[in-house]
Amino acid sequence: MLEVSNIDVFYGKIQALWGVSLRVDQEEIVALIGANGAGKTTLLNTIGGSLRPASGNVMFLGKKIAGLALPAIVESGIAHIPEGGKPFPDMSVRENLEMGAYPYRAWTRKEETLKQVYHIFPRLRERERQLARTLSGGEKQMLAMGRGLMSKPRLCLFDEPSYGLAPIILLELFRVIKSLREQGLTVFLIEQNVRHSLEIADRAYVMENGRITSEGKSKELLQNDHIKKAYLGL
Ligand SMILES: Nc1ncnc2c1ncn2[C@@H]1O[C@H](COP(=O)(O)OP(=O)(O)O)[C@@H](O)[C@H]1O
Ligand SMILES: [Mg+2]
Repeated sequence: MLEVSNIDVFYGKIQALWGVSLRVDQEEIVALIGANGAGKTTLLNTIGGSLRPASGNVMFLGKKIAGLALPAIVESGIAHIPEGGKPFPDMSVRENLEMGAYPYRAWTRKEETLKQVYHIFPRLRERERQLARTLSGGEKQMLAMGRGLMSKPRLCLFDEPSYGLAPIILLELFRVIKSLREQGLTVFLIEQNVRHSLEIADRAYVMENGRITSEGKSKELLQNDHIKKAYLGL
């Protein structure tokens, strides 16, 4: 479904990603794990269209998307849920969700999708009229996920959804991510919370200093000595 081939990404003269390749198949949950500063967000922003690779390619559903403008990438079926959620602070919860439905295929089914989002996150319905800036961290993350779902995506890109959240909310969000796949969505999940992400993912890639250094089935990576030492504190 998604194929990243040998991409190099720079910030000015500084290279952040070095020949990164990976793939995500339909209805998989794939995790990208790595320490702070490894380049995870840079990779997600490149797939999501806010950065351009200097070389290499990104294909989605058989079409080249590297270098497309952001709205065209959303239109193609990718929802990017950024770090911290980044809602529009002075709009209400409901207005934020409706903004997510701007792709053509989503707009006509807006009401129906909104019902589904409120079913997944009852708390968003309760806070429908509240301004986004007054939400807690966990609620902002729910709003960001809800806004992404409003675009009727095929693939969801999550950037550290658990960051800064209380453990109980984290478990709730991971449960939702799992249920999305059961509804036919494909998930690419970036996480510093290595244990939880390997527990829900089918496969995972490890990124270190802007390079993919290992990959495999999550179950195998959980048994890998380097992963255990470096990321699981074992
Ligand atoms: N806007 C930017 N300008 C310059 N350097 C950046 C920028 N964003 C990130 N970087 C650098 O790129 C590297 C990877 O960062 P990032 O992708 O945010 O890592 P991660 O998400 O894994 O923590 C880091 O060295 C970081 O300092
Ligand atoms: Mg990051």
